[in-house]
Amino acid sequence: MTANYPPPLDPVPLRAQFPALQQIVSGQTAVYLDGPGGTQTPQSVIDAISQALTLGISNQGGPFLASIRTDAIVQAARAAIADLYNARNPEEIIFGQNMTSLTFAISRAIAQTWQPGDEIIVTRLDHDANISPWRLAAADRGVTVRWLDFDPTDCTLRLDTLPDLLNARTRLLAISFASNAVGTITDVRRAAQMAHAAGAQVYVDAVHYAPHDLIDVQALDCDFLAASVYKFFGGHVGALYGRYELLDALPAYKVRPAPAKPAGKWETGTQSFESLAGVTAAVNYLAAISGAAETRRQQLVQAMARIKAYEMGLSDYFLRRATAVAGLKVYGITDVERLAERTPTFAISLAGYTPEEVATRLGAQGIYVWHGHYYAVAVMERLGLLDKGGLVRIGFVHYNTYAEADRVLAALAQLAAERS
Ligand SMILES: Cc1ncc(COP(=O)(O)O)c(C=O)c1O
Repeated sequence: MTANYPPPLDPVPLRAQFPALQQIVSGQTAVYLDGPGGTQTPQSVIDAISQALTLGISNQGGPFLASIRTDAIVQAARAAIADLYNARNPEEIIFGQNMTSLTFAISRAIAQTWQPGDEIIVTRLDHDANISPWRLAAADRGVTVRWLDFDPTDCTLRLDTLPDLLNARTRLLAISFASNAVGTITDVRRAAQMAHAAGAQVYVDAVHYAPHDLIDVQALDCDFLAASVYKFFGGHVGALYGRYELLDALPAYKVRPAPAKPAGKWETGTQSFESLAGVTAAVNYLAAISGAAETRRQQLVQAMARIKAYEMGLSDYFLRRATAVAGLKVYGITDVERLAERTPTFAISLAGYTPEEVATRLGAQGIYVWHGHYYAVAVMERLGLLDKGGLVRIGFVHYNTYAEADRVLAALAQLAAERS
């Protein structure tokens, strides 16, 4: 560890910034372990959204203060996400309703460049938002869809088999940076290198990855990358990166007076400007987790390193204690030597209970976890669990504490004891 390396993250002062985390349910503070479904927002984000609406916003491009303010909100949000993703140019950032809608829009445009007989690759580890838009676009264009499988023993993608799927007809690889079901982080850089060598474009789903680890679209060398701000402490808005040349050249489905150039070319209709004010605040919240640094990007690099280190500690703590709960099975990577390869998102089953029963019993104690497939339909299918109610998902983010890990483990142990 170098002398100027930022000190370990302490979640307590950070938690204090989140009003939702202070709520009392059943006499105890609520435990939000539902981050992969959507994170809570700090007061600074709530204030930014509220202030935008309070001061008065209008639409873009007008010669009066409320419109000038609106233009400034959009520009600031683009610059913030460009820093978070390390895009070369803020015009490479497109906002939209959410990742799914953005992916449907861009997939339709990209598909215009495909020919019958072309091929694309999707993966079984992905959320359906990075599968169905591509399958539907492929069906429209007479394009073949190939599937990249994962190893069900540790839920890691079989990148070793990617070369077998790639050929001169492959036009696109759609791949997720991290699984929202089992937490596996994929070496997207390596996948992108293989795909590019075959002449295919790479579309990355970074929705689950974004709150946990550093995004760098230049280092990844991907062509597109999408995430959702509500998964990283902001409001409900999606943010897509695309290489400028591609965004410029691709045909967009748009109304006639819309801008001809990125990013406006891709932003159909009126954006949620108040949410965009929250986007900048969310990125600034993350940046402030770092120690001092010269630029916001440098702050984000440090902040995400602190978050990652803290979350790996939490994963280690959770996994070591989970083995003591009778009948509890964790899916995905469980080797504590490999925690850098996963997010602290744990898909589990508990013997004697359906996932829905577990989530309901924990929910009654104010412990919020998801159950089912969480739209990772292909993952549950591959694990043979889709028609069995899926799994329970316990998802930590940096505002969760070791004490919360203890609470959920104690509640699970209690359930296990009831039906042993
Ligand atoms: C990995 C992943 N991809 C895509 C999505 C879809 O994102 P959105 O709700 O922004 O459409 C989600 C949402 O849970 C997700 O977890």
